Formats: sequence, structure tokens, C-alpha cells
Amino acid sequence: MNEISFIAQKLISEHSLSKDEYALLIINRNPEISEMLLSAADKERRKIYSNKIFLRGLIEISNYCKNDCLYCGIRRGNVNCSRYRLTKEDILTCAEEGYSLGFRTFVLQGGEDGYYNDDRLCDIIDSLKTKYPECAVTLSLGERSYESYKRLFDSGADRYLLRHETADETHYGKLHPDSMSYKNRIECLYNLKEIGYQTGCGFMVGSPYQTAENIAADLKFIETFSPDMCGIGPFIPHKDTPFAAERAGTPELTCFLLSVIRLIKPNILLPSTTALGTIAPNGREKGILAGANVIMPNLSPVSVRKKYELYDNKICTGEESAQCRQCLETRIKSIGFEIVNDRGDIKFI
Ligand code: SAM
Ligand code: FES
Repeated sequence: MNEISFIAQKLISEHSLSKDEYALLIINRNPEISEMLLSAADKERRKIYSNKIFLRGLIEISNYCKNDCLYCGIRRGNVNCSRYRLTKEDILTCAEEGYSLGFRTFVLQGGEDGYYNDDRLCDIIDSLKTKYPECAVTLSLGERSYESYKRLFDSGADRYLLRHETADETHYGKLHPDSMSYKNRIECLYNLKEIGYQTGCGFMVGSPYQTAENIAADLKFIETFSPDMCGIGPFIPHKDTPFAAERAGTPELTCFLLSVIRLIKPNILLPSTTALGTIAPNGREKGILAGANVIMPNLSPVSVRKKYELYDNKICTGEESAQCRQCLETRIKSIGFEIVNDRGDIKFI
């Protein structure tokens, strides 16, 4: 057996590698190794989740953001971005429609918008949990204080998604302005976990300046942090950002890493992202086949969908929620998987 097959076998049996081994695996991967990891990842996922795919209804509550991440289309500095924020009533209407379509998790995502202070968010979370006690509420609203995370958790929020973006401090500095700090991002993640949220981290595949060693650091971070969820998707340039001319990440490496992450933590909740569906035809199906078990369709009102454009050519911005639900049902069935209408919590093994 050559060195790379040996490393791949080690990952399959031990669910862990050294940072150098991860880097070697990434650099020297080939179609045969990818297929071997995909098939092992599929086996692990089926042992725990069978062929079930969980849905999360994404409600993009605001595209105002005080931050200026160099990659992001809704960054403060993008003067061409037409700003909006949903009202509490808008959000409840989206949830009502989602509920009737079978969604049992609502994800409130947005830029870091000061309008959404703790009082306003607690009121919205409380209304959602009162009306839909059997549903999970996930937040994805960026960096906040420990006290703020705690208040939102105490009003009923179940989960929090905060991608770490990169586990290498120098690389983090190349993707963000000086006003943002890697240390704070990581501290936020540990705070969320300590408070009791089901916590998700994640990163973009192929972000500018990213090296195989950076990705190896991401994988080591996932091993040690042991998140309940992990969002990875290809970086896709947005025309009105400093990274407009950068190359996008590839679907091939994204799918490879989905298999690797499934093998690191077999019970992890792993979305096949809209970004993957944007960059490749049938990208979301490919992500599921590689080991993902979550899909996050959009429940935002069609009137605002195009405005929440993190990257160019985002898919599903013209479709009504019911159309997306139907479309996904067909797509997922066509590859032998099945969407289930439940909260889709992590299963402990
Ligand atoms: N403000 C919240 C936060 O920072 O977590 C949530 C919204 S933020 C826009 C959601 C995620 O979108 C980011 O964590 C980032 O990884 C991803 N994203 C932003 N710009 C992107 C791009 N150009 N290509 C792919 N993903 C992107
Ligand atoms: Fe939105 Fe297919 S999932 S149109």
C-alpha cells in the first residue's frame, strides 16, 4: 500500500490524523482515494442516519452588517448592496409557511445588524418557540457577547452556527479587516458550546490564500472542538468585493472534505450547501453522496432573496419556498435518499 492509501485507511479506522497527514492527504488525493473515502463516509453516515436527510428552513432576516469581511457580498463597504431587514411579522410568516411545508427547524441568519438587539431577538425566538414548541430554532447572527448568547439561549434558541472561517490566525487576517479578530471568533465558539447550544463551525473551501496546511488546521480544529454541525461550502467571488477577481473553490475538493469530515465525526450534522449547488450542476446531490446529511433551503420572502447575495449567481433566489421544497424532494429521491420532516437533532453514539 502506498503512503496516501495508508493515510486514508488510517482515517477510516481511527477517525483522526495528524495535521501533516491531513495536508498530505489533501495534496496527494486522487479519484481512487476520493472514492474510497466517499464510500467509507457513506457507510458511517448510514449506520447512524440511514438514508435520511434533514431540512433546515433558512430565513435571512437582515443583510445589514457592521463587518467588512473581504469575501462577503453583504459587507458594510458594498455600496451596491440594497439593504433590507425583515420585521417580526415577516419572520413569523416565513416560519408559518415553512411549518406547513414540513420544516421543523428554522434558521435565523443575517449580517451583524445592531437593530437586532437581544430584546428584539428574544421576543422573536419566544414567539417561534411558543407557536412551534416541537421545532428547533437555530441562530446564525455572527459574533456577540457571552451575555447576549446566554439571553438568546434562555429564550429558547437551540442551536448556533458560527463558521470559524479558517483555523489559521494569519490566514484569518488575510480574509478580514483588522477590526475583526480570530481569537474572538474562536472564543465565541467556545462560549456557545459552554452555554449549551448545539454548535456549528465551518469554513469556505478555496478561499483566497488558503493552503492545504490551512485546511489541515481546519480539520484538526474540527477534531478538537468536536462541533455538532459543520458548514463547509466553496468560496465563490462576489463582484462588488475586494475578492471579485479571485478564483472560486472547487466542488471536487468540497466533496472530498465532506467525506473527510464525516469520517472524523461520523454523527456530525453536515449540510450540503447552497454554495455547492451554485458552483456545480447537482452540487447539493454530490454533497449528499459524499457524506452530507442536511439541506438548508431558503424560506425568505422571494422579494428579498436576491438582496442576500453573499456571492455571485446564488441559486434558488427566484423560487417560492414551496417550489424549492418540491424540487429538493425530487432531487434527493433521485439519488436514493429521503427527506424527513423532523427537528433532525444530532444522534449520539
Ligand atoms: N453574519 C453571520 C456570520 O458571520 O456567521 C452569518 C452570515 S455570514 C454571511 C454566513 C457565511 O457565509 C459566512 O460564515 C461565510 O463563510 C459565508 N460566505 C460569505 N461570503 C461568501 C462567499 N463569497 N462565498 C462563499 N461563502 C461565503
Ligand atoms: Fe430551490 Fe431547487 S431547491 S429551486
